[in-house]
Amino acid sequence: MERMLSGIKPTGRVTLGNYIGAIKPFISYQDEYEMFIFIANLHSMTITQEPKELRKNTRDLIAIYLAAGLDPEKVTLFLQSDVHEHAQLGWYMTCLSGMGELYRMTQYKDKAAKGESIGTGIYVYPTLMAADILLYNPQYVPVGEDQKQHVELTRDLADRFNRRYSETFVLPEPLVAKVGGRIMDLQNPTKKMSKSSSDGKGCIYILDDVNLSKKKIMSAVTDSEGSIRFDPENKPGISNLLEIYASLSGRTIPELEQRYVGAGYGTFKKDLAEIVGQYLTDIQTRYKEVTQGSYIDDILKEGARKATPVARKTLAKVERKIGITIYK
Ligand code: TYM
Repeated sequence: MERMLSGIKPTGRVTLGNYIGAIKPFISYQDEYEMFIFIANLHSMTITQEPKELRKNTRDLIAIYLAAGLDPEKVTLFLQSDVHEHAQLGWYMTCLSGMGELYRMTQYKDKAAKGESIGTGIYVYPTLMAADILLYNPQYVPVGEDQKQHVELTRDLADRFNRRYSETFVLPEPLVAKVGGRIMDLQNPTKKMSKSSSDGKGCIYILDDVNLSKKKIMSAVTDSEGSIRFDPENKPGISNLLEIYASLSGRTIPELEQRYVGAGYGTFKKDLAEIVGQYLTDIQTRYKEVTQGSYIDDILKEGARKATPVARKTLAKVERKIGITIYK
C-alpha cells in the first residue's frame, strides 16, 4: 500500500471548507492507502492561543474526524505534540532552508502584508510542516489548494537533503481535490472560507446550528444573471455553491448545471441547504457519540504508539547521515 499523510490545525472551529477540502478526501482514501492523519497542534502555536480554547478545539477536531467517518482501525490518528520527533526534524529542516524561500510562502506574505506584528513561528512554519511529512515518507499529501505551496517546499527540502547526504526521503506529491480544493467565503466568494474569518455569515462551521447553516446558504452572495453555471471568474458565488454541491452530492458540476437549467437561485440554494443540513446533522449526531467516555484519548494514545516508531526510525537515519549521532 502506498502511504498518505496529512494534518489540520486545531485553531478555531472546523469549517465546511476544511471538511470538503481535507476531511472528506481523507475518508475517501482510507481504504486504499496506509494513512497517517494528525492534529497539527504545534502549528497552532504560531498564533496566540487561549489554553482552554485550544484544548476544546483539539478535542472537537478529533471528534469531527471520527464523526465524519475516519476509521481509527484503518488510519493512524495522533497529536503532533505526542511525537517529539516532529519538532526535532523541524529544526534540521529549518537549518536546511533559506530565508528567501520561506519569505516567498504566500501564507507568510499575506500575513506580513497586513502590517501586523507577526511571530517567528509563522515564518518557519513550513519547515515544521516539511518535517511532519518527511518523517513518514508518504507518497501523497492530500491538502486544500492553499497548502500546495508548502508541500512543494517540502519536496525541495527533501531533494536538497537527498543530494547533500544521499537518498533518504521520498519526494511527496500534494493531492488537491479537483472539486472543492478551495471553498470560498459565502459572503465574499473571492476570499477563502476560513476558520479565522471574522464575519461568521460567510463561513459554515461543522458544529454550527443546522438551521443557521441553512440560512447561511440561503443568504450566500450570488449575481444578477439568474443562470446556474460554473464560471468562477464572472460568477464566483454560484460557482462556489456548485463546488460545494458537487462535492457533497457526488454529482459532477456539468450534471448539476444540466439539472438546474431554467431553475432560479432560490430553488438551487434550497436543495443545497438541505444537503448541507443533512451532512451536519449526521456528523453532529455521531459527534455526540464519540465524545463520550475516554474514546478519543484511547485513540490518540494508540495513534501516538503507532506513529512514534516510524518517526523515530526516520529521525535516527537523518541524525546518522548528518553527523549528529556519534554513538556506534
Ligand atoms: P489548516 O488547518 O489551515 O487546514 C486544514 C486543511 O483544510 C484545507 N482547507 C480548505 N480546503 C478547501 N477550502 C477551504 N476553504 C479550506 N480551508 C482549509 C487546507 O488546505 C488543509 O488541507 N499547514 C496545514 C496543517 C499541516 C499539514 C502538515 C498539512 C501541518 N503539517 C503536514 C499536511 C501535511 C494547515 O494549516 O492546514
